[in-house]
Parts: sequence; structure tokens; C-alpha cells
Amino acid sequence: MPPTTPIWSAVDRYITDLLIGPDTALDAALAASDAAGLPAIAVSPPQGKLLHLLARAMSARRILEIGTLGGYSTIWLARALPADGRLLTLEFEPKHAEVARANIANAGLGAMVEVRVGAASDSLDRMIAGGEAPFDLIFIDADKVGYPAYLERSLQLSRLGTMIIADNVVRDGRVADATCDDAAVQAVRVYHDMLAAEPRLSATTVQTVGSKGYDGLAIALVTA
Ligand code: SAH
Ligand code: DHB
Ligand code: MG
Repeated sequence: MPPTTPIWSAVDRYITDLLIGPDTALDAALAASDAAGLPAIAVSPPQGKLLHLLARAMSARRILEIGTLGGYSTIWLARALPADGRLLTLEFEPKHAEVARANIANAGLGAMVEVRVGAASDSLDRMIAGGEAPFDLIFIDADKVGYPAYLERSLQLSRLGTMIIADNVVRDGRVADATCDDAAVQAVRVYHDMLAAEPRLSATTVQTVGSKGYDGLAIALVTA
């Protein structure tokens, strides 16, 4: 399977041109991330808008993101918040966090977004120990081997109705290969096993193709 195909990228461009259009802050965030040498692994524009629409549909006021990179998905999500909303995003790499903070400020979202540097598991453990209030929406998009730990901790930062979304859980279809020895594939398989076994969650995974290749998003709702 190639990383992407011309038709997937052409359709992503069609969707983006028609339904999203040019966007000064988002386009600048990608350009600044590229100029700073960050990897080009942000969600695609249609995926970013999906995150935005889901956050808006549920009237999210408190959003947690795990894996900031240059803040591209952060900006999409934060734009769904009301004026007094809050978004906390966790990032391991200080350089990524610095680029993201500038991009978020340039998008006019600096007051509602906090970029917290550190290993996400440590930040999450501190939040749980400190009695952090539950989040309405949690977006998991950091290192893939960490996903099981992030889901376990996300549940402790959730309430009835919280939506937990995880990126990159299909991995060119390898998620369905039980014999695959790739650590990230094994981790997203454990993630799905946890979704299946957790009685508090109702979940599905949507396969995606586009400019980011063939992958998928796991969407889980805390229902009990
Ligand atoms: N959500 C971003 C993309 C995130 S890429 C977007 O779509 O725009 C994944 C990010 O997770 C990278 O910036 C990487 O540095 C970060 N990361 C990797 N391991 C991490 C960890 N243990 N804790 C927190 N962040 C981590
Ligand atoms: C990678 C990470 C992502 O979150 C993504 O969407 C694509 C690639 C990566 O680490 O390679
Ligand atoms: Mg991702």
C-alpha cells in the first residue's frame, strides 16, 4: 500500500477547496511548522474540520489534546470553544511546543489554550492526582505505543458524555493483522481491545483515506 494515492489527495483537495477554503491562521501554522523542521504529520484539513465539528456539535467547553506538534489540530479544536472555553494540549518536545504556542497565538487563541511540555503519561497522572475537572472531548494523537496508557488515563479525566477520539488507529490496515510485530500496530490493537472490554465506552472506528494516506479514527463515547 503506497502512503497515499493521487486520487485520495485530489479528493482531499476538492473537499478542502470547496468546504474549507484558504485559512490564514491554519495555513500559517503549517508553513511555520514546516519552516521549523517539524514533521508533516498533522491531521489533514478535512480531518481537522471533522474534529472541529464534533467539538461544536457537543458544545465542548473543556478539551484535552495529547500530542500537539505545531498546533494545527489544536487550532481546529480550540475554534470550536466558547469564549470562556479551555483547551489543554500535552507535548513532549519543547521545540514543538514553542512552535505550537506561536501558531496558536497567531490564530488569536493564546488565551484559551495551554501547551504543557512533558511526557503525556506524567502530565496526565499529575492532572488525575490533582483532581483536574473532567474534559468534554479528548483527542489522542501522540506516540502510538502510549495509546493504551492514554486511554486508561483519559477515562479518569472523563464524565458521562465525554468523547474520546484517537488518530492513526488503522495504520494502512495493519490493525487487523494479529501477527504484525510492529509496536505501534500492537498498541492500537490493545487500544481496540480496551474499547471492546470497557463497559463505560461505546465505540467505533472509521477508516480514512486522503492526503495522509490510509488510516483511521477511533471514536468512543462515555455512556455510563
Ligand atoms: N495533533 C497534531 C499532531 C501530533 S503528532 C496535529 O494533528 O496537528 C504527535 C506529537 O506527539 C508529536 O509532536 C510528538 O512530539 C508528540 N509526542 C510523542 N511522544 C509523546 C509523549 N510521550 N508525550 C507527549 N507528546 C508526545
Ligand atoms: C505520525 C503521527 C501521527 O499522529 C500521524 O497522524 C501520522 C504519523 C508519526 O509519528 O509518524
Ligand atoms: Mg495523528
